[in-house]
Amino acid sequence: MSRSDLEEILDLTDTFAEIGRRPIPKVPALRGRTVATAFFENSTRTRMSFETAARRLSADTVAFSAGSSSLSKGESLRDTVEVVASYGADLLVVRHAMAGTAHRVADWTDLSVVNAGDGCHEHPTQALLDCYTLREQRGSLDGMRIAIVGDIRHSRVARSNILAFTALGAEVVLVAPATLLPPAIDGWPVTVFHELDLLLADLDAVYLLRMQQERITEGLIPSLREYANDFGLSTDRVARMRSDALVLHPGPTNRGVEISAEAAADPRSVILDQVVNGVSVRMAVLFQLLGSGQQLVAADIEPVGDDARPEGVDR
Ligand code: NCD
Repeated sequence: MSRSDLEEILDLTDTFAEIGRRPIPKVPALRGRTVATAFFENSTRTRMSFETAARRLSADTVAFSAGSSSLSKGESLRDTVEVVASYGADLLVVRHAMAGTAHRVADWTDLSVVNAGDGCHEHPTQALLDCYTLREQRGSLDGMRIAIVGDIRHSRVARSNILAFTALGAEVVLVAPATLLPPAIDGWPVTVFHELDLLLADLDAVYLLRMQQERITEGLIPSLREYANDFGLSTDRVARMRSDALVLHPGPTNRGVEISAEAAADPRSVILDQVVNGVSVRMAVLFQLLGSGQQLVAADIEPVGDDARPEGVDR
C-alpha cells in the first residue's frame, strides 16, 4: 500500500475509534452483511478483534476454526473456503500457517478476502493498527526511528511493519542475532544491528517481537535465557530509553523472554492501546471493503436503536 492508501485507512479509523468510546459502541454501517472468519492457525486476539469489529458494525459473523472442524477429517482448504462462503458471507478473513494462503483463497472466490496472517509472510492489519497507535501517540511517523527487535526471520508482523513504517516516513532498524534474521535481507529498507544496548537511547520506539517457538525448528538461539539477556527489554533497559520513547508488542508476550513484566507495564508501553486500536482499524478495513460505496454517511454511524439499554442499567 502506498502512503496515501495507508493514510486513508488511518483517517477512516479515527471515526471508528470514536465509536469505540461511545457507551454503546455499535453502529448500523454493515447491517445485513456477513463476515466469515476462517482461522486455520491458532489466534486469540486477532480473531476476537475482527469479530468485535464486525459486530460493532452490525454485521453478522460466521466463525470457522481448524481445531474443531472437518479439516481434521481431511477436508481440503478449498472445500472449507467454499463451504464457509456458502453461508452467505460477504467477506472472508483468513489466517493460515502457509505463506500466500489469503492470495490463493482470493483466486477461488469473488468475496473480499482479508489476510489475518499467512505464515511468516504478512500480517497487514497488525501493521495498520501499529501505525495507527504510533500516529495517535506522535501525530505522525515521519522521521521516527523505530527498532524492531527479535525473531524477524519468522515474523509476518515484522515484514508488514517494515513496509508500513517506511511508507509513512519512519526509519526502521532491525535488532536480532544473525540466526533470527531472514537469509536474504538485501534490498529491505532497513539497517541491521546485533546489539540493542548501543541503540536504546536513540530510539523513538522499540517494537518487540514474540519468540515464535512454534516456527523455530532448528537451534537458532543458545537458550531463551541467553536470548533474554542479550535482546530482551528488561527493566534495566527500559530505564535507559528516552522518556518519550514508546514500547510496542503485537502480543501474545512471553514475559521474561522478549520483555519483562515491568517493561510491559511501563507508562511508555502502548501494548494495550494496540489491542484497542486493532478493533478500530479492522472496522475501517471491513467498512472500506463492504460499506456503502466506501463513503461514510451519517446513517452509517448512528447509534443502533434496537440495542439501546433500558435507562439506569449499567453495562
Ligand atoms: C502475531 C501473529 O499471530 O502473527 N500476533 C497477533 O496477531 N496478535 C504475532 C505473534 O504471534 O507473535
